[in-house]
Amino acid sequence: MIATVKPAAVIVLAAGEGKRMKSRTPKMLHELGGRSLVGHATAAGRALEPGHLVVVVGHGRDQVTAHLAALDPTARPVVQAEQLGTGHAVRTALEALPPLAGTVVVTNGDVPLLTPDTLRALLATHQERGAAATVLTAVVPDPTGYGRILRAPDGSVEGIVEHRDATDEQRAVAEINSGMFAFDAVLLADALGKLSSDNSQGEEYLTDVLGILRAEGHRVDAVVAEDDSEILGVNDRVQLAELGRLLNERILTAWMRSGVTVIDPATTWVDASVTLEPDVTLYPQTQLRGATTVAAGAHVGPDTTLTDTTVGPDARVVRTHGEGAVIGAGANVGPFAYLRPGTNLGEAGKIGTFVETKNAEIGPGAKVPHLSYVGDATIGAATNIGAGTIFANYDGVHKNRTEVGSHSFVGSDSVLVAPRKIADGAYIAAGSTVVKDVGPGELAVARGQQRNVAGWVARKRAGTPTAEAAARAAGQQTDTADAPARQERQTGDVDGASDRSEQ
Ligand code: UD1
Ligand code: CA
Repeated sequence: MIATVKPAAVIVLAAGEGKRMKSRTPKMLHELGGRSLVGHATAAGRALEPGHLVVVVGHGRDQVTAHLAALDPTARPVVQAEQLGTGHAVRTALEALPPLAGTVVVTNGDVPLLTPDTLRALLATHQERGAAATVLTAVVPDPTGYGRILRAPDGSVEGIVEHRDATDEQRAVAEINSGMFAFDAVLLADALGKLSSDNSQGEEYLTDVLGILRAEGHRVDAVVAEDDSEILGVNDRVQLAELGRLLNERILTAWMRSGVTVIDPATTWVDASVTLEPDVTLYPQTQLRGATTVAAGAHVGPDTTLTDTTVGPDARVVRTHGEGAVIGAGANVGPFAYLRPGTNLGEAGKIGTFVETKNAEIGPGAKVPHLSYVGDATIGAATNIGAGTIFANYDGVHKNRTEVGSHSFVGSDSVLVAPRKIADGAYIAAGSTVVKDVGPGELAVARGQQRNVAGWVARKRAGTPTAEAAARAAGQQTDTADAPARQERQTGDVDGASDRSEQ
């Protein structure tokens, strides 16, 4: 096999309106697998390492151009102001480039499942056979709407006829034009100058280039796609969902083959941009999005959505919503945790049930097990944050930071009013509202003193069941000196109080 030469240009056609999406968003910006349609098309084109990567834009061009600039800054948007056909679109792209020699590859912006491998096979066959044009085709059960491949009796490609312009006999052909081509750059430019718009849509068809080249005695070839799902296009939201599912299946299959356990592929959604290591286990209803990475041995889910989040080896993340977070090795998160950007949980740390965190550095082995808000905070190693603790970070104007040292203990239901510093080895008494810094080894108590008012119930709630219960309890207390009577009560105890006392 001759080594393929990189294409001089890849041209992605993306100027069409996409009316059937019925959307305010340009069709090219609709997403599947966490990536826009035009994002999938440019990624496949980029994989060929072309000299120029051109995206022909038209409808929604400002939004599509801005999106491209963020996605692939070296991809070059070329405006086709009026959509006068696919041939016109390619001509517009070539006119924006210096004269090219070599191969030009053309793809469609709305065909997201096309793989770089298939594009490479198209390019390789085209170059090996020295063709003027090579079209990627597929044989499909229902070719309605597609251009049909016309072959001569010897099997060679004679041209393409659009569905709308085809005879009944031509419509019976099941081999269709995918819309992907490789062309000799010089011959393409020349043939584009000869296109007419004498057809049912009054457009310049790129597909007519094949017939022109063939009539001039050049070689025109075809490559049949092995997997016809690769050439499916998105024209409406039903197809968007269907192709999204196919893409997800493809992504999950690849991860399973590389050693990831996916308990329920039907309810697990993983973006194309996610990275997983072997022996990761994904439980049902898990979505992994953006730049999320999950290290070996970690378990994620069920019912978990992680976006741009890093999960360390052997961590456990259950029923959690996370974004922009880092979860350390062997750490535990959830169930019902909400990790917001800037959360960084150290090795073997814990963010437990009904806990929200944001801009929070939580040290190795530190624990925030229950019902807390931790915002703009640093928590040192092995510190325990009691149930219901609030890091009060917002004074109505500014967000302030609180630092808690290592091996400290914050009692339940405390409010730490930022900015605050709690030293290493400090204690906060439960129920404290902490408005002063706490030094090493100190216990901070910041709450009302407890006062027990004897006889209050009898005086203020006389005649209520509470008062009666109080009177009975007072009677029993006087009994406690009477040992035989107490033993009798324990023998008659059916709810296992004596078992409990042994635990
Ligand atoms: C086209 C092909 C058809 C093929 C099908 C595969 C032509 C004439 N027909 O038909 O043979 O089977 O794709 O999906 O090429 N576009 C522009 N500028 C234009 C017109 C279109 O950029 O002036 C872009 C569209 O945004 C789209 C692509 O080109 O990404 C294809 O155009 P579309 O109108 O969808 O062509 P089809 O009728 O589907
Ligand atoms: Ca189309």
